[in-house]
Amino acid sequence: MATERTLSIIKPDATRRNLTGKINAKFEDAGLRIVAQKRVQLTKAQAGEFYRVHAERPFYDELCEFMSSGPVVVQVLEGEGAIAKNREVMGATNPADADPGTIRAEFADSVGENSVHGSDAPETASDEISYFFAGRDIVG
Ligand code: CMP
Repeated sequence: MATERTLSIIKPDATRRNLTGKINAKFEDAGLRIVAQKRVQLTKAQAGEFYRVHAERPFYDELCEFMSSGPVVVQVLEGEGAIAKNREVMGATNPADADPGTIRAEFADSVGENSVHGSDAPETASDEISYFFAGRDIVG
């Protein structure tokens, strides 16, 4: 399997509860490497731009409000099959459906406040990484 990079976001519900280290331990234990990282406060407009594919969904406004409600940690994870591996470690979008031991099963409060985001495919990973990072910011 090829080495890939994917975008990971630790969301405001998790930064608020001081869970950044516990969440990143799960990624690192699964063999993913954090090759770029920053903690930022998004504006609602920036959150809206990042999640523009969901603009027509009924939860879009709530999602943008939440993602700008506190700091997030944006990071690039690298590893073999990193896109799928990240999604496996995160667990299902709705924590009620997430497998035991996954980040969302252990830490997430609800489908909206679900602690982490991860890119879902190679094209979105590339777009999402470039939304936050220049090539020189990523050190493997
Ligand atoms: P994420 O992986 O960041 O991608 C889009 C986000 O929309 C998703 O995680 C959820 O946090 C959020 N989302 C999906 N479905 C709902 C919903 N029914 N209500 C509120 N937020 C949702």
